[in-house]
Amino acid sequence: MAYGRIQHAHEERGDDAYFTPREAVVSLIRLEADHLPKVILEPACGDGAIVLPLREAGFRVVASDLNEWGCPDSYSGVDFLRTHGLTAVPGVVTNPPYKLARCFVVRALQVAPYVAMLLRLPFLEGTGRFEWFQRQPPARVWVSSRRLPMMHRQGWEGPRSTSKVAHAWFVWDAAWIGETVVRWFDWKEGANVSQGAEVGREDVAPSPEADA
Ligand SMILES: C[S@@+](CC[C@H](N)C(=O)[O-])C[C@H]1O[C@@H](n2cnc3c(N)ncnc32)[C@H](O)[C@@H]1O
Repeated sequence: MAYGRIQHAHEERGDDAYFTPREAVVSLIRLEADHLPKVILEPACGDGAIVLPLREAGFRVVASDLNEWGCPDSYSGVDFLRTHGLTAVPGVVTNPPYKLARCFVVRALQVAPYVAMLLRLPFLEGTGRFEWFQRQPPARVWVSSRRLPMMHRQGWEGPRSTSKVAHAWFVWDAAWIGETVVRWFDWKEGANVSQGAEVGREDVAPSPEADA
């Protein structure tokens, strides 16, 4: 596959095996410090990109995925959308396959009062979600002002770049009363970039619209 190719057909995306950059998870832990439950389910855990920073920060994370991508201490072969009788948990945190994002949110809210999902910012729009958002508004939307490092496919060994798409953490929180709060964050502020993250390197090419 040629470098620089951004869009992949759904069937080519292999169940959306694009894993979350560590910086996004570190930011969530900081931003949601007062709200994140201590016990969390990551139901589409991939290689553990969300699971591992949460565990390192002291959270107990139960991890599962439809596929096996190498996440330590996780269950594979678990279809989050079709598995009946899932045990209720205090919180769900994931970056779901985007084409199934709303289904994942709906399912997550059936098993947890607190749900945080890393989603593309355009998830906010769309007539298909208009009614649903009236009934099920997020408590908080944390917009990443700086484009996140690119979520590359599993096994990607090409150059790292920044995402061409804006992302936000969408948080549904049963403990929240009131209107949706929208806030912005910069993952470079307070993000731990010393452990394996290559952010800030000179060879990380900014996308043309990244700071527009
Ligand atoms: C975009 S990746 C994100 C992985 C991980 N959450 C992360 O943030 O790095 C989406 C993941 O969803 C998994 N997946 C796809 N459909 C699923 C389903 N129905 N139930 C559980 N996992 C699923 C894929 O195998 C893949 O690991």
